[in-house]
Amino acid sequence: MIQAANRLQTVEEYYFSKKLREVNFLITSGKPIINLGIGSPDLQPPQRVVEAIKEGLLAPNAHKYQSYQGLPELRDAIAGFYKEHFSVSLSPTTEILPLMGSKEGIMHISMAYLNEGDAVLIPNPGYPTYQSVTKLVGAKPVFYELDAANNWLPDFKALEELDLSKVKLMWVNYPHMPTGAKPNKYLFEELVAFAKRHDILIVNDNPYSFILNEAPKSILSVKGAKDVCLELNSLSKTFNMAGWRVGMVVGDNKHISNILKVKSNMDSGMFYGIQKGAIEALKCSNMWYVTLNSVYKQRRDLVWQLADALNCTYDKNATGLFVWAKLPDGIKAEAYIDSVLKDKHIFITPGTIFGSKGEGYIRFSLCATNEVLEEAIKRVK
Ligand SMILES: Cc1ncc(COP(=O)(O)O)c(C=O)c1O
Repeated sequence: MIQAANRLQTVEEYYFSKKLREVNFLITSGKPIINLGIGSPDLQPPQRVVEAIKEGLLAPNAHKYQSYQGLPELRDAIAGFYKEHFSVSLSPTTEILPLMGSKEGIMHISMAYLNEGDAVLIPNPGYPTYQSVTKLVGAKPVFYELDAANNWLPDFKALEELDLSKVKLMWVNYPHMPTGAKPNKYLFEELVAFAKRHDILIVNDNPYSFILNEAPKSILSVKGAKDVCLELNSLSKTFNMAGWRVGMVVGDNKHISNILKVKSNMDSGMFYGIQKGAIEALKCSNMWYVTLNSVYKQRRDLVWQLADALNCTYDKNATGLFVWAKLPDGIKAEAYIDSVLKDKHIFITPGTIFGSKGEGYIRFSLCATNEVLEEAIKRVK
């Protein structure tokens, strides 16, 4: 019997990979399932982006291997985007590495920096991939708890009290998924100071900056941040291009070149047409963001009504592609979402998949049309 590697015993198949099989089985057996689980944008990318990929298909070099560092024009467009939206200057030649979605960056960064036995600070609740990748590379997750009472921001006093001697890397993600918490005025400065004090590399995973958020911010806008911080960003949610797989890691050249060492040994450059489309997306005018958010605003109003009908509470100041809602006291998230799936045929994500601090919460995705959301409200009323 051929055994899988020991590291596979440290992780399970991704929650959505499993749960969506169950949901799809219900759909194929004729149940009228409304899926408010995953954050996969259903809206179209900008038209000029679609045109660019179509044109890209016909370019003479389109089918060849592409550069490991992406097209120079793509790195220029990323630098322009960071300057325009975050007032952060990046060198297109040395401080930007395009990725096939930001998710792969979590593995590349972990492979580039973590030795077996190193510790990694991970938010609870937080994106599950931080934890699973940490385990896959043989490092040890150390969770820092986020709490509604502190607006889901890190508690620096509690962080300082942890044993940080083995901590090499810290994942942060503001605007935060799943809670939608925004960074306050001081957060990124406090994080940079914390990283410098303890010699920790902080990575801010920043894919939700442009969704229902008035003030997009980058951790790299803090003076001196590049020494100790990296940022991941993504076109998945901002431009409805989740399936295209385009993201980036940005930061100081010493870090980017370490990550390139891993990535260039694992894959080859992104498809030419996708890069051409991404360039167009990154150049979109303000109108794109206004139009996108006007759709999400209407949807969020409807999701709030749905949450009201389910007797949940939520923070109207939260940002992002989801509504994070608190269940009435004493109700367990997984049992609750299973009962809503069974009785109302609505799939909602239980907060527990993001960690123990997600118990008692559920997460609704805004990736469903107004009509679908109105139908969901009707079903639960
Ligand atoms: C917090 C967070 N980081 C990263 C990702 C991955 O995004 P991408 O599509 O860029 O790989 C997601 C996707 O859901 C996410 O929620």
